[in-house]
Amino acid sequence: MRVYVLNGPNLGRLGTRQVDVYGATSYADLVALCERTGADLGLEVTVRQTDAEHELIGWLHDAADEGAAVVLNPAAWSHYSIAVRDACAMLRGPLVEVHISNIHAREEFRHHSVVSAVATGVICGLGLDGYRLALHHLAALSG
Ligand code: DQA
Repeated sequence: MRVYVLNGPNLGRLGTRQVDVYGATSYADLVALCERTGADLGLEVTVRQTDAEHELIGWLHDAADEGAAVVLNPAAWSHYSIAVRDACAMLRGPLVEVHISNIHAREEFRHHSVVSAVATGVICGLGLDGYRLALHHLAALSG
């Protein structure tokens, strides 16, 4: 199974960004975790991060065309980007939305994700382990 692990704005700064909220693990470590987990599970995993909304939308279009599965942390776009949500709605494979922090326990503007209604499922608040769990779920689906 082909899986795109896509990350939105500011997630490239993991490891130095609000360490109390997101932890001290770097983005490079997150990439390594996803690649290692994917290899162990027999998934073809590609991990990407962007701060440009149009770039994420392009990657979602590619995933839709390929019928690929997606693990997506839309970051701040979760809370207001109808364009990202509309691109997610075009996916033909499963979509797991991941948030490192528990968005429901934070500021009110983070409580709602416009993406969640078009996701297959959502994992939030489990730190980077959410990505690992999402990949395990997708592997179980394809197995
Ligand atoms: C986040 C939560 C969002 O509210 C925030 O804007 C992020 C990261 C998370 O992974 O917890 O950038 O998606």
